[in-house]
Amino acid sequence: MKKMLFPQIAQVLHGGDYNPDQWLDRPDILEEDVRLMKEAGINTATLGVFAWSAYEPKEGKFHFDWLLSVMDRLYQNGIYTVLATPTGAKPAWLDENYPEALRCDANGMRLRHGNRHNHCLTSPAFRRQAEVIIKRLAEAVKGHPGLILWHISNELGGECFCPLCADQFRNYLRQRFGNDIEKLNKAWWTDFWSHHYTSFEQVEPPYANGERSIIGLNQAWREFTSWNMGQYVKFERQLLRELTPDIPATTNFMQVYPTLDYHELAKDLDMVSWDSYPRYHSDTESMPETAAETAFAHAVIRGTKPGQPFMLMESTPSLVNWHSFNKLRRPGVLRLSSLQAIACGADTVQYFQWRKGRGSFEQFHGAVIDHLGTDDTRTFREVAALGADLKKLAPVLGSVPEAKAAVLYDWSNRWAIEGMAGMAASTKQYVRTVMEQYEALSRLGVETDVVSPEADLSGYDLVVAPMLYQLKPGRAEHLRAYAKNGGVLVFTYLTGYVDENTLCFLGGFPGDGLKELTGLYSEELDTLYPADRNGARFEDGSVFEIRDYCEILKVQDAEVLASYTDDFYAETPVVTRKKAGNGSVWYVGARLEARGMEAVYSRCLDEAGTVRIPMPEGTEAHFRSNGEQRFAFYLNHTEEPVTITPAAEGTDLLTGRRVKDSIVLEKYGVAVVAEDAV
Ligand code: GAL
Repeated sequence: MKKMLFPQIAQVLHGGDYNPDQWLDRPDILEEDVRLMKEAGINTATLGVFAWSAYEPKEGKFHFDWLLSVMDRLYQNGIYTVLATPTGAKPAWLDENYPEALRCDANGMRLRHGNRHNHCLTSPAFRRQAEVIIKRLAEAVKGHPGLILWHISNELGGECFCPLCADQFRNYLRQRFGNDIEKLNKAWWTDFWSHHYTSFEQVEPPYANGERSIIGLNQAWREFTSWNMGQYVKFERQLLRELTPDIPATTNFMQVYPTLDYHELAKDLDMVSWDSYPRYHSDTESMPETAAETAFAHAVIRGTKPGQPFMLMESTPSLVNWHSFNKLRRPGVLRLSSLQAIACGADTVQYFQWRKGRGSFEQFHGAVIDHLGTDDTRTFREVAALGADLKKLAPVLGSVPEAKAAVLYDWSNRWAIEGMAGMAASTKQYVRTVMEQYEALSRLGVETDVVSPEADLSGYDLVVAPMLYQLKPGRAEHLRAYAKNGGVLVFTYLTGYVDENTLCFLGGFPGDGLKELTGLYSEELDTLYPADRNGARFEDGSVFEIRDYCEILKVQDAEVLASYTDDFYAETPVVTRKKAGNGSVWYVGARLEARGMEAVYSRCLDEAGTVRIPMPEGTEAHFRSNGEQRFAFYLNHTEEPVTITPAAEGTDLLTGRRVKDSIVLEKYGVAVVAEDAV
């Protein structure tokens, strides 16, 4: 079951973005870099992320010698190359010669040259130029023994409202609606406010100053933009596959990024990776809270490519320069957060950036090597010590988190919730709600995945589907089958309101057959003001607070577990359960406080017979397994030593010590226990 990302290296990848193209006039620094990388236990460098103008300073004039000599020197010193395609930023000549490569904003205004991550997603001229540089680059490095991975572009995102994209949108709609404008009219309910179209040519993107009242159009635009970016990724991936068939490819994701469906994008990638920049030590969150959010983000990313490790492509060795307050990570936090990534399924720890540049936007962004230029810094020492730790974790490579529960997360559902007019924009908070379910399960001591509603759910004891407002065709059936086959399935308020085009289901929510599965329907949804409260009283007398949303449920055939305490719907059902085949279906009709959800999940887990490893406050446990061996990670996110009871005996890979009944985790301490076989 081992799925090694880089079998030829067989070490945790430790490296980061390296920009020798900014230092070509300083061969002494380039020499020194390699020496320092070795000292820090660096075994990989990500090259060329924004190097297009260094490769092709003028259209058709190419320079790859500098790259090859850097790759050679790195390889001779045991350092592998992750090579980016340089399409994350365009050279000035490209925008000058091909203005159509520049994006248009939501007012249809063409952007000017500058910045990055801003090419038009459709422009044939941009694709032609991208094809030229990617082909030349791949030909230059083809067969280089140091090359292990392609890094497609950089942090793809955003949208473009240019005429080419608008046409492409129309083509996408023609495809989607079988070239039948009446199908589109029906799906978008266009008789409302006289929006009926008579041809696809009349359909415009939802410009900022134009039509935004057709919810189906807004949703389709979001889906189109994500799809179009996917087409772009396919284009680069295909080119690379033709030129270097043996080199895998990824692109670096950005957390739970709002506008791209990473579940779709990941299908074209060999492995997924992301850039993690948590706001540690902030004035609004505790360390454990920030850590829990980060664990959730790791779970989201690994859920885009289940069953294999992911890559932590970027993280800062010290601080960033773009948070509102760029506080230093305290000593020990680099180690803790990097090992947390490994605990959550990463097989790499990579940084942005190796060396601080002298000028421009990121000159004060943290790096392994400071402007000081030496190894005599706190950051360097922490990186080097981490490098030594990572070497000890080679046995973990290729294993994956052993999750017993899953929380469903879906981008299209997110867009549908955010895009519907209703409820309260400030409290809908779909992503936060999904995260809170993940966190509640983690607190109960259950390793949890975050996956698409279309994922294979058969291995999970418990599946939670928070706010699954949109049911695309087949999803309700998929969930029903999961429950009937013995799974415990939890729905919440706002389940099954609309279809793939955001048309409401008729005959009662949750629609598409879920009314029968849950044994109830939701007659009304009450949106509370932020200060309003209600409560859920369970049969044992316990009461948990409710805020933001309450559904008034009509229960037809389900056991009522809790009822509202207040308001005109006091005493009516709020939490229910119904048997379904070999499993059960639970419905939580209101936004219950965390402790309330934990109480519900505890019962679900008991019913499913799931083993739990509850941990002391502020600590986390994660389990990775390769089918033969299990590794337990215990992390202390607090500033005090904590004693924990390990799930099993074994050997701590970091210290080499035997672990039996208890482990003392120092402030920010971590233990990685290779458990004894049972
Ligand atoms: C990332 C980006 C890097 C660098 C980094 C700074 O989002 O990919 O190029 O800008 O942020 O934190």
